[in-house]
Amino acid sequence: MTLAELENAKAQSLAEINAADASQIDALRVKYVGRNGSIPALIKAMKDVPKEERPAFGKAVQAWKAEVEAALGAKGGAGAGERAVEADLTMPGRWRGLGVKHPLSRVIEESAAIFARLGFTVADGPELENKFNNFTALNTPAHHPSMDRSDTFWFGDDCLLRTQTSPVQIRTMMANKPPIRVICPGRTYRRDTTDATHSANFHQIEGLYVDTKSVSLADLKSVLAYFAKEMMGDGVTVRFRPHFFPFTEPSVEVDFTCHVCKGKGCNVCKQSGWIEVAGAGMVDPRVFKFVGYNPEEVSGYAFGFGVERIAMIKYGIADIRWLYENDIRFLSQLG
Ligand code: DAH
Repeated sequence: MTLAELENAKAQSLAEINAADASQIDALRVKYVGRNGSIPALIKAMKDVPKEERPAFGKAVQAWKAEVEAALGAKGGAGAGERAVEADLTMPGRWRGLGVKHPLSRVIEESAAIFARLGFTVADGPELENKFNNFTALNTPAHHPSMDRSDTFWFGDDCLLRTQTSPVQIRTMMANKPPIRVICPGRTYRRDTTDATHSANFHQIEGLYVDTKSVSLADLKSVLAYFAKEMMGDGVTVRFRPHFFPFTEPSVEVDFTCHVCKGKGCNVCKQSGWIEVAGAGMVDPRVFKFVGYNPEEVSGYAFGFGVERIAMIKYGIADIRWLYENDIRFLSQLG
């Protein structure tokens, strides 16, 4: 094709497009600029044009293509918008509606990362447990109220939905020799009535450290202080209050300094400067006996956090139910 022929073909194509109605536009797009259209064919045939004519010819082909596209675009029709988007790179992109991680997943993943820096690996256990792992081996006496049918979901006499992640301590110790350094995140169940701070299904993160060297409450405190700072920010530390759990001796409840006021007292911490986040303590020698360890040879600490509790204070969530309603208006605010 010569330059003159090209100008002719161009004039003809533009006249054809201008005379066409919207229903014909797609066919004309295919005819001229589609993959096997006449303009791409010309571009492919460029190598046969004498070298000295090539620049002028190339320019003319590009000009033709631009004018055809402009004429097609001006006519509208299906796909016209898409062409325009493709041509104008400054137009805003299309929103793909990417999701965000659920706050509970974020707390669990962040916790695993923090404890990994201290050498803890992640252990797992089933949500359907037996009585030995969930209660007996955790030194829970047979008359303990937590074993009552009104507090625990039982399936027969020896099968239950675990009420805590602590049975993973038992499973881990029975399957391994010390030293042990694990966290165990997961779902737990209690026969609670659901309200703003309670749910029959919630999540915990258990921690367990057992060693043949002597392990102390000071080790536990330093690890939890590091976790507090990494999870809630600088200036947040821990305090221990005496408590009782059957599987630890001594047992403590763990408070973080309020991350909002840094301990001065505010609405979030009800003016106390502290927020309760976990139970913990030194593993009771009787638990070691249940799993076949010699309490004279090993010592260790354990702790258990509520994941919802951490998420609620970290992200300022007032009602636990919001975490389970799957409402995008709520979840997308936490991205
Ligand atoms: N399992 C306890 C609960 O659900 C929390 C807990 C307390 C876990 C002390 C521990 C611990 O590992 O040492 O209330």
